[in-house]
Amino acid sequence: MKDFSSRRSVLLLFCVFSLSVWTPAASEFRICSYNVQNFNLDKASNYRVLHTLTRIVSRCDICLLQHVVDPDGKAIGALLAALNRESERYNGHRYKSVTSTSLGNSPDDMEQYVFIFRPQQVKVTGEHQYKGKLSFDRPPFVIRFQSTKTAINEFILVPLHSNPKKAVQEIDQLYNVFEEVSRKWNNSNVMFLGDFHAGCAYVTRKDRKSIRLYKNSNFSWLIGDRADTTVTDSTTCPYDRIVVHGEPFLKAIVPFSSQVFKFGEDFKLEKRKVLEVSDHYPLEVTLKSSAPLLQATPLLILLTVIVRFFMPTL
Ligand SMILES: *[C@@H]1O[C@H](CO)[C@@H](O)[C@H](O)[C@H]1NC(C)=O
Ligand SMILES: *[C@@H]1O[C@H](CO)[C@@H](O)[C@H](O)[C@H]1NC(C)=O
Repeated sequence: MKDFSSRRSVLLLFCVFSLSVWTPAASEFRICSYNVQNFNLDKASNYRVLHTLTRIVSRCDICLLQHVVDPDGKAIGALLAALNRESERYNGHRYKSVTSTSLGNSPDDMEQYVFIFRPQQVKVTGEHQYKGKLSFDRPPFVIRFQSTKTAINEFILVPLHSNPKKAVQEIDQLYNVFEEVSRKWNNSNVMFLGDFHAGCAYVTRKDRKSIRLYKNSNFSWLIGDRADTTVTDSTTCPYDRIVVHGEPFLKAIVPFSSQVFKFGEDFKLEKRKVLEVSDHYPLEVTLKSSAPLLQATPLLILLTVIVRFFMPTL
């Protein structure tokens, strides 16, 4: 009997200890963006690629994938299955996705935007396909999200995988998308993300003068001009970007949290294996949590653990 109760307290102590370890992770809300370079069923069938991609996406509460070529949804289905199969390993998170139609100007070059998200953390409250066919090769598929876990609560994500030859024009046109969606939803908490090709030969310093997202100081570029989002050693280009509109959104972001995630180092993968997934690196940014929930969450988990422990039949 005595032995049993001491085992109990050890277990409880262990729970409390692990809670203090989990707390920082629970308070983070991470948004990611990744050009997965022609992600199709072939690529999803490569076990190693799928596994690496699963590790990357499982870091994020929302992950935008671009350059997805998966009209029947089988490749994304395989990725979701892998994420949810291993959900134990990823703190028990489950994942869902919302996918655009195939976008592009020629039948043999069609791509989709895909948002993979954790439905327990964030809800999709609106979808809007921008229609300006003349402005974009792959017009943004805009999503409004709502999350009680973040300080910003409701925000809009605008993805763009630009046509490199029209990068300057397309990035500038994001301003029109901003006007349309912020009016539509009466919400100007807008984040733009994706492979804009916003650097090297496609967008020069001089070109920035004709890009409204650069000129208008209400927009903050979180991935700077010196970043390198390409994997190969031969290029140093800040193609992929995250831009946010407005003071409220900027204040909701954890300072210095935006980064190019060079996962080869973290995952101990050779460059060759990194390139199997994509020639781009993913981007990440962290939103501040909603403060009251930050305090409530560990307590709730603790209560759940205690209840589960003493009443295992529940
Ligand atoms: C739009 O949002 C603002 C605050 O963000 C609010 O004051 C205003 O009433 C809203 N307008 C409409 C038409 O809902
Ligand atoms: C920036 O945002 C403020 C507040 O919404 C607005 O009054 C101002 O006109 C904006 N500036 C520009 C250059 O759009």
